[in-house]
This record gives sequence, structure tokens and C-alpha cells, in this order.
Amino acid sequence: MKKKIGNSLGKFPNNEKHYVLDVLNTNSKTDKNYVQKLENKFRKIFKTRYAIACNSGTSGLHASLASLNLKKNDEVIIPALTVVMDAYSVIHLNATPIFADVDPDTFLITADTIKKKITKRTKAVMLVSLQGLPVDIKPIIKLAKKHNFIIIEDNAQDFYGKINNSISGTLGDIGIWSFENKKHLSGATEGGIITTNNKILAEKIRKFAGIGYKNMTATGGRTSLSIEMVQDPNYERFDTIGLNYRMPQIVAAVCLGQLENFKNIIKRRQEVARYFRDAIKNCNWIIEQKIPKNFTHTHYTFAVKYFGDSKKGISWKKFYKMYKNNGGDGFYGACVCPHQEPSLRNFFIKTKYKKKIKTPVAEKIQKQIMQFKTNYRSLKDAKNKSMILKKLIAQIENVK
Ligand SMILES: Cc1ncc(COP(=O)(O)O)c(C=O)c1O
Repeated sequence: MKKKIGNSLGKFPNNEKHYVLDVLNTNSKTDKNYVQKLENKFRKIFKTRYAIACNSGTSGLHASLASLNLKKNDEVIIPALTVVMDAYSVIHLNATPIFADVDPDTFLITADTIKKKITKRTKAVMLVSLQGLPVDIKPIIKLAKKHNFIIIEDNAQDFYGKINNSISGTLGDIGIWSFENKKHLSGATEGGIITTNNKILAEKIRKFAGIGYKNMTATGGRTSLSIEMVQDPNYERFDTIGLNYRMPQIVAAVCLGQLENFKNIIKRRQEVARYFRDAIKNCNWIIEQKIPKNFTHTHYTFAVKYFGDSKKGISWKKFYKMYKNNGGDGFYGACVCPHQEPSLRNFFIKTKYKKKIKTPVAEKIQKQIMQFKTNYRSLKDAKNKSMILKKLIAQIENVK
């Protein structure tokens, strides 16, 4: 297959477009099951027994939790600093999300913050590798063994992050990733994938995400039954109440093209992060998210805490405007803590759970965080933006 098509500097310079055209080309004789090709490649790279492609990170979270047979009043511990989807997936299964606080320096959930929230009803804990930094999972695995809960790693913002040589997302019971368009690897639209080494969980996840066809297995989305059998009016297809969370072949074609070049995609983000790290290195009022020793951060964003309001009398929003006025790009704040979003606030008021939520660190640092984008197509452009940041910091420092 030809390697390059169109603009090689674009977002999809690999085989993505050829694979998509291959899906659409009904005359070609190639194997069109790009979902299976993607799953197989993902399994090999991440060294997991099973991989199940799905249509988003959110559906991946929902299907993963659905495999645990949660009951009403079961609890799932999730970080207080994350996206709302982690909590939504728990609530859709009639279980209760329990928010654990985060570490003020890494911004991540820890064994200590989880410990405080464990009860007899704890069935699972969700670890979120926010910004691309793996959660320190080893002490959490010890807790899971002691208290008998499942670990789900939400790696939507992390791709191939590592703790020493272990790959983040593959160390707990289930891992999920997102191929939403802004993520490290893009399905051009939406997409996700779930991994596990547990055959029983894999089959349940695949069935839930695949409308519950009875012939689905841990490894296979489709089975080749005789057409006569399938056409029989008495043929019963389903044994599980599932949803249609299947990944479309065209999305899988794009994701496979991206996955074949994933190391370069990650390296680029890490390189951009280095530019921004250099820009803030002498500044004591913009402090980078702490990366523990031997952890590999994959920099979905370059995240910092901002103290310019107390130290320089410049508010977060004012600094944002100054950076933009000087030619910088808009950077993102951290998502509002899920339990403070109106959707969940209103839900918790009804369930009277809100009173118990105490996560002061997450609530405090959520307001301090700045996330600089790392997905520049041009490294020169990224370098220029980081220089604008560096000059702005120098300019503020020099104001007496
Ligand atoms: C940490 C985290 N989890 C889950 C998701 C959900 O992924 P998706 O957008 O593919 O549904 C996201 C997406 O932004 C995310 O950042």
C-alpha cells in the first residue's frame, strides 16, 4: 500500500486515508475488518490479552463498568478532578460515584486519598491519568487486593505513558482509551478501545458494547454462522442486554493508520511540552504538574499551576488575555470538578449525597490549573508560542 497521500504535514499523514478508501472500495479484495486489525495491533503494542474497540472513551467506560454487574448502592471511587463522564458511567448503572481527592502536585488520585473512601460497598476504583501522567498504581493494586475491588484505568488522556517500563492502562483490571479527535491518536471523529487480560470481563464488555449478540466472544466481534441459520425466523440472536457502542470500520481504519505511527505522535507532544517547560523554568509563580521519578508523561497537555494572582497581582483570566494579546494561543483551564457541574450537582441534591463530598484539594487546584496545548502540527509554531510565554513572564518579572 502506498504510504503518503495529500498533505504529508497534515493530521493524518500515515496510511489513514488509504485504509479509509480501502473500506469504501468494495471491489478490492483486501480484508476489510479494520476493527479487528486495530484490536490485534493494539493488543500487541500494549501486551494485553484482549482489546475491544468501541465508539468513544465514554462508551468504553460504561461498557467496562457494566461488566462488573454493579448493584444499586454499590460504590465506585473516582477522582474529584476529572471529566464528568467517569461519574456519568457509574450513575447510568445505578451505582454511586464516590469522589476521592487528588494530590496537589501531580493532580492525580492516590492510594492515600482512595483509602479514605473505601467502604464495604466499594466495587471499583477508576484511575484517571490526567493530562497524560500515569497514576501511581502499585500501592493501589495492593489496596485492591486487600479490599477486593476492580481497578479501571481511564487513559483517555494518556497514550503509552509508563511507570518504569510498565505501560499505563494495562496494570489494572481494565483500561480504556479515547480516539476522540483531540486525543493523542485521533479517529478523526470519535472512538475508543478497552483492554483487559480477563476473559470473562472481555466477553461481557464485548457483548454489552455490541448489542448483546450471544455468539460474541472475548476475542471476536463477529462469528460466521451459515446464512440459512441466521435467516431462520426461530434463530435467537441475543443473550445480553447491551447497547450499540461498536466502532465503525471507517473510524478503525483511521485509528489503525494513527497507531502505526504512535511513537512519533507521542514524541511530538513531549517535544512541545519541553518548549513550554523551558519557557517557565525560572518562574516561581507558574509551576509544572509534578512528574514523579521514572514516570513517563505523554503530555495530552502541558499542565501547570498558576500563582500569579497572589504573587504578581495578575488574575488567571488577566494572564490568559495578556498571553493571547501577545500572540499566544488560548490555553484551557481544568474542567470544573464533576460534582460542581450543574448536571451532577442537581443529581446529588436529589440523592442527598452531595453533603458528603469533601475534596478541597481538587476544588482549589482546579482554579489554578492552566493547560497549554501540545498538538501543534508545526514544531516551529509551538516554539514561537512558548517564546511568547517566556517573554510575557520576563515582562511581568521586570515590572517593579
Ligand atoms: C479523562 C477522560 N475520560 C474519558 C473521556 C471520554 O472520552 P470520549 O470523548 O472519547 O468519550 C475523556 C474525553 O475527553 C477524558 O478526557
